[in-house]
Amino acid sequence: MSTSSKPVTSSAVTVIVLAAGGGTRMKSKTMKVLHPISGRSMIGHVMDAVAALEPDRVVAVVGTQREQVGPHIKALLPGAVLVVQETQDGTGHAVRVAWEALDPAARTGTVLVAYGDTPLLEGESLRAFAEDHVAAGRGVSILSGVVVNPHGYGRVLRDSAGEVTGIVEQKDATAEQAAVSEINSGILAFDATFLDGALPRLTNDNANGEYYLTDTVQLAREDGLGVGAFMIDDVIQTEGVNDRAQLAILAREKNRRILTRWMKDGVTIIDPDTTWVDVDVRLERDVTILPGVQLLGATVVAEDAVVGPDCTLKDVEVGAGASVVRTHAELAVIGAGANVGPFSYLRPGTELGAGGKIGAFVETKNAKIGKAAKVPHLSYVGDAEIGEGTNIGAGTIFANYDGVHKHRTVIGRHAKTASNNTFVAPVHIGDGAGTGAGSVIRDDVPPGALAVSAGPQRTIEGWAGRKRAGTKQAEAAAEAEEAHHQRAGVRADTDGE
Ligand code: UD1
Ligand code: MG
Repeated sequence: MSTSSKPVTSSAVTVIVLAAGGGTRMKSKTMKVLHPISGRSMIGHVMDAVAALEPDRVVAVVGTQREQVGPHIKALLPGAVLVVQETQDGTGHAVRVAWEALDPAARTGTVLVAYGDTPLLEGESLRAFAEDHVAAGRGVSILSGVVVNPHGYGRVLRDSAGEVTGIVEQKDATAEQAAVSEINSGILAFDATFLDGALPRLTNDNANGEYYLTDTVQLAREDGLGVGAFMIDDVIQTEGVNDRAQLAILAREKNRRILTRWMKDGVTIIDPDTTWVDVDVRLERDVTILPGVQLLGATVVAEDAVVGPDCTLKDVEVGAGASVVRTHAELAVIGAGANVGPFSYLRPGTELGAGGKIGAFVETKNAKIGKAAKVPHLSYVGDAEIGEGTNIGAGTIFANYDGVHKHRTVIGRHAKTASNNTFVAPVHIGDGAGTGAGSVIRDDVPPGALAVSAGPQRTIEGWAGRKRAGTKQAEAAAEAEEAHHQRAGVRADTDGE
């Protein structure tokens, strides 16, 4: 992200993002630019970089599977103009289609062309390039880079004085031109008046039979306008993804960059190779991340917390000084100084208070667990509220589901419930109350009382058929009964012989 909010130029800035390519090499039903890296679509990363320029307008060119990409782009940037390129006749054709969709009055100022599949692009780089283009007053500027293997790229051609003379595409290049290692990243900047006149002059008279946007360089020279290249050292920022192998390479590099930024900001990451942090995650100083951790979505970890080893936290808030070990959690809040894990599963709506504990082999869902309250062992806590300082015994089940509806269990403050309890919701247990081991608590327990459920088993025949008529449960019961009668009938017949 750019730190400067100074406008690139006093005249208008238009950014055209090309994303009409089918991405067939991804072999996916998901459009290429929608594949995520670090918790954001590739085009989402590009739009983020583009936003750093504070452009006056953004035009996105989409093609096949436009019904997937269009709404996504609109969600990222509601003001973006969506343009459909029906046939992919080349980058020059794509820009022409975008250009013609603009109001003639809007075809002024500076125009930047970028691609939707370059997830490592940074706003600062785009801004530096645009500023250089404006300062030099060129007709066309190329964001170029030097690469070890230039095969497949357009090469930047220069004369003996080092002045840029044009771009030649791989298929059109002579052996000598193909040996050039300075490539066109694909990101170009234009003076709008020049571009307006140049687009209709492009031809498809080349090895690919496409309208090349890169031919504008030659046209600008013919018009006596300045052309030039701005070299980016960090050339991977402009690298595109064509297949899933490249997706993995760029995803790892993006992740490495995110981790480096957090480490420089005071976060300890023991094993960057096995740590994955999404772009929107926030980490405070002196957080420690142990090996095998994924922090996803809008997860926030406060200072001195220790996460890991082996955790996946998505949209989770971890409080200061908390410890989270071998845990899978989503949309949960873990209070300051709380302890979670090992082997805990926190589902959406879990809120653990400061100093609380969700222990080993515990699953929670939609559960508010108070300050210093503890669910240490082998339990399921669903649709519940547990008050401050309360301790839940080992192997407790909050039976929230009667087969049709979900119900809540509310347990007060400083209650002590014993091992192997079942709380049959809806049920309320008062402050300071207790229960006996193995109890099935169906009735409310008043504050300070001890509830013990024991006694002979009571079996109510035919309950499901009467109370759950029409459900699969009643059906299964009826089938079992039928089978039982048939067996009994067979036995009776046999007995009769
Ligand atoms: C292009 C450049 C090349 C550069 C390379 C960098 C041209 C002629 N060539 O080549 O100099 O080195 O990118 O990666 O510009 N697209 C459309 N509509 C089209 C064609 C392409 O929207 O009709 C989009 C694609 O989705 C993609 C981008 O434009 O995002 C580039 O297209 P691609 O076919 O990859 O161009 P290259 O041949 O790689
Ligand atoms: Mg390409």
